[in-house]
Amino acid sequence: MKTENTVWHMHQVSKHDRASLKQQKPCLLWYTGLSGSGKSTIANAVDELLFKQGKHTYLLDGDNVRHGLNGDLGFSDAERVENIRRIGEVSKLFVDAGLIVSTAFISPFRADREMVRKMLEEGEFIEVFIDAPLDVCESRDPKGLYKKARAGEIKDFTGITSDYEAPLQADIHIKTDEMSVIESAEKVVQYLDESCK
Ligand code: PPS
Repeated sequence: MKTENTVWHMHQVSKHDRASLKQQKPCLLWYTGLSGSGKSTIANAVDELLFKQGKHTYLLDGDNVRHGLNGDLGFSDAERVENIRRIGEVSKLFVDAGLIVSTAFISPFRADREMVRKMLEEGEFIEVFIDAPLDVCESRDPKGLYKKARAGEIKDFTGITSDYEAPLQADIHIKTDEMSVIESAEKVVQYLDESCK
């Protein structure tokens, strides 16, 4: 727990010093969307395009982070809030290291996404709404989770028995039932190119 005896240290090498080594603007691409919407697929495709451009990136992915750092958290509202808070803090460290960070988490609550936006500097948090209608996600059902949720085998399942609050004004809006993976990834890279001019 933070106490009055915990003191913040200033570092000699700044975020901007680190980023300038790679000639890039550090930022956080925050992908949000239902399970099966395509968050991880598109985040991976963007990460690959950026890597090929010589950018220094890092990708944090929901299922993977829940195996380690957040392995103690389930899917109640309170645990999802804590999940996103920790991811936000970790992302902030990576942004501070000068990287272009991507995160792929359902992050169903607007207030939590805004909490992460406020952890960062102006313009660093880029909300990417990976938008696919629930029935499309359910028909894809890549992990068979919707089927289990409908059968009552998974409680608090997003879109079925737990809320998803769609972004009202995402920085980037991608409809994965209308665009291909590569078109979607190029749209994100184009946004970055334009916002880093
Ligand atoms: S959250 O809401 O942001 O805290 O969720 P996240 O950390 O992104 O984890 C979502 C992945 O966990 C699997 N899973 C569930 N999702 C939603 N609701 C419930 N109850 C649930 N149980 C397990 C699922 O594989 C999610 O991955 P994606 O990639 O979104 O399909």
